[in-house]
Amino acid sequence: MRIYVLVEDYSGYESPFLAQHGISFLIEKAGKGILFDTGQSAEPILHNMRLLGLDPSSHIDYIFLSHCHYDHTGGLLGILKAIGRRVLVIAHPSIFRRHFVMKPYLRDVGIPFRREEVEELADLYLAPKPLEIVEGLYSTGEIRNREDFEQGHIGVYTLKDGQVMEDSIMDDMSVVAKTSEGLVIVSGCSHAGIVSIVKHAIRMTGERRVRAVIGGFHLIDAGDERIERTVKEFKELGVEEVYTGHCTGLRAEAAFQEAYGERFHKLHSGMVVEF
Ligand SMILES: [Fe+2]
Ligand SMILES: [Fe+2]
Repeated sequence: MRIYVLVEDYSGYESPFLAQHGISFLIEKAGKGILFDTGQSAEPILHNMRLLGLDPSSHIDYIFLSHCHYDHTGGLLGILKAIGRRVLVIAHPSIFRRHFVMKPYLRDVGIPFRREEVEELADLYLAPKPLEIVEGLYSTGEIRNREDFEQGHIGVYTLKDGQVMEDSIMDDMSVVAKTSEGLVIVSGCSHAGIVSIVKHAIRMTGERRVRAVIGGFHLIDAGDERIERTVKEFKELGVEEVYTGHCTGLRAEAAFQEAYGERFHKLHSGMVVEF
């Protein structure tokens, strides 16, 4: 399998690629292309795809949305227009709910489109349970078993019957691929908790070897204790290699770099990884 980093917060050193706060990966497996998240706008993704020699209409067969946040979904309509045919968009059924922050002021941070706008261009497959997308590549479905140390509200809310409620981002889903070298787990922001996600993927597939974990780990505001515990759990679970960036934050990246040495990789636009 091959993973292209189509967009990420960092462009890389002396790089011709564009960066953007957000994530978009293209995963190629079993002869199919799965676009994992769509950044916050389509332009840098399409620019970087051109540089990588990737044509949206022939290289994208599915779109998987890891959760509702605008920096993972904002490019969706632009990408669908560039693909120019109806593809399946896989996401959690609650992805179109109201989702907002209130500090420092009320601001919507969810998917910036209505369901009808997406359905004009694509077929929605809203599935909260694990789902095999192509042979050996699965959506994890929602992560219900969340580790205690990874719980904690990040200041996002939703509306239920007009009432403001804390939102625990239950739509957070990842992708897991079975390879001959073990699992490759791809996450967007890991709002369910990255250790919870890895444990869920192991339980779900019955495969104990974890070849690599790739994505944002959302540790940007985490305390030292949580960061240390996360790195320790990765080592105990036998995670072999780590590719991270986006919302992981400099302190957690440094902790992973320290623990993993050359098996730590900072994500950047244009990076290509093969397993
Ligand atoms: Fe994010
Ligand atoms: Fe997020």
